[in-house]
Amino acid sequence: MAKKKRSKRQSIRNSDFFNEPLYGMDLNFKSDDARTAGPTESDEVDQHGEEDLSEVLARALKHSGREERETHGFHTYPAGMHPDCAADIIAACPGAVHDPFCGGGTVLVEGILANRPTSGTDIAPIALLVAATRTAPMSMATPLRAAARRVTEYAKQPIEVAVPEEVVSWYEPHVAQELGRLRDGILKEDPAVHSLLRTVFSSILIKTSFRDSDTSSRRTPTQRPPGTTLTLFHKKARLLGRALECMPQDLPEATLKYGDARVKTAPSMVDLILTSPPYPGVYDYLPMQQLRYAWLGLNPGRGYIKEIGSRRAFRAKERGEALKTWQADTTSWVATQAGTLNPNGRMAIVVGDGLVAGRVVDTLYPTIEAMEAAGLTIIARVSTDRPDHARNTTRTEHIIMGERQG
Ligand SMILES: C[S@@+](CC[C@H](N)C(=O)[O-])C[C@H]1O[C@@H](n2cnc3c(N)ncnc32)[C@H](O)[C@@H]1O
Repeated sequence: MAKKKRSKRQSIRNSDFFNEPLYGMDLNFKSDDARTAGPTESDEVDQHGEEDLSEVLARALKHSGREERETHGFHTYPAGMHPDCAADIIAACPGAVHDPFCGGGTVLVEGILANRPTSGTDIAPIALLVAATRTAPMSMATPLRAAARRVTEYAKQPIEVAVPEEVVSWYEPHVAQELGRLRDGILKEDPAVHSLLRTVFSSILIKTSFRDSDTSSRRTPTQRPPGTTLTLFHKKARLLGRALECMPQDLPEATLKYGDARVKTAPSMVDLILTSPPYPGVYDYLPMQQLRYAWLGLNPGRGYIKEIGSRRAFRAKERGEALKTWQADTTSWVATQAGTLNPNGRMAIVVGDGLVAGRVVDTLYPTIEAMEAAGLTIIARVSTDRPDHARNTTRTEHIIMGERQG
């Protein structure tokens, strides 16, 4: 039977998201401030299904605000799951964990912190880079700091370097030169620390640019005194070093693979699939990282075509047609992933309503249908409204848990 819980209403931190950014929501902050916009505090939570589990899910959905423990929050990733939401759900479900839309790796960090075999996939190269760094062993902290010091020293030399053509107009010339020298200095380091250094480098690329944020391509020209880009890089490397040192010793390694969730599964059978797929029509995850691709020499290739529920797909097609595609994609990835669940294994999907041309797109029932079609029994689900005052609308966010019968 459905029941309602009340919690104190708080101001909605992200209420002014929507002011015509090119890509997705505008979070109105410079992403490299190491801030992650957490969900807003839930007002009411509708609970259905098994009482104990729906209590867990309701608590998970209510977590709000920024959480920067361990490596969480080091490099922003849009629409990240709240770390405590992931932690609560993992604690309630024993066994191996997989996230087929792992993004910046929140679920993976919580999976290894809970000492579980943990794996994840994504089609975004930046997601894989960030997730790998956030799950790196604490033993990397010292080599990272030493390498970052050398890279910063190297980049102080007045050498003229090449800057990718695509990024030139987004930076003051001296800032682009400092970034170019950092990039070149990283290449001189031991490959074992490359991906950590590249993540640190990636984490400063928006803050030092004229771009407003990861999710908004609006330009706001800023002025950075010479040398401060190098200082920022070094400071961020020390921050990451400290964050890695906060991770316990001897954690399991997370397995990370590039892969389309409709096809690619965990390397072996798992007990919990915990994920947050793209909400329909809200973000363009791959194009929003173009500055980073250019600096890091990454090519998302066919990822652009494989992205599910993108904002651009909803703009390009008639709404009904785009919805059908999103539903077919949802049915497909849920079926693929359900195939790797052990008997009594569970799938928990955190998904929110989409927003297309100012109209809300329901995600609850299509997701339930996809889970049932994949042979899962819905054992608990919770929903809460997230008011969007700027658009004078309300979107609902859900956690739906299905179980494979033993
Ligand atoms: C909501 S984000 C996940 C955020 C993640 N839970 C976190 O806490 O950082 C959705 C992710 O789905 C990825 N994605 C989109 N289409 C995909 C597909 N077909 N297969 C795998 N990943 C996909 C995007 O690149 C993005 O990283």
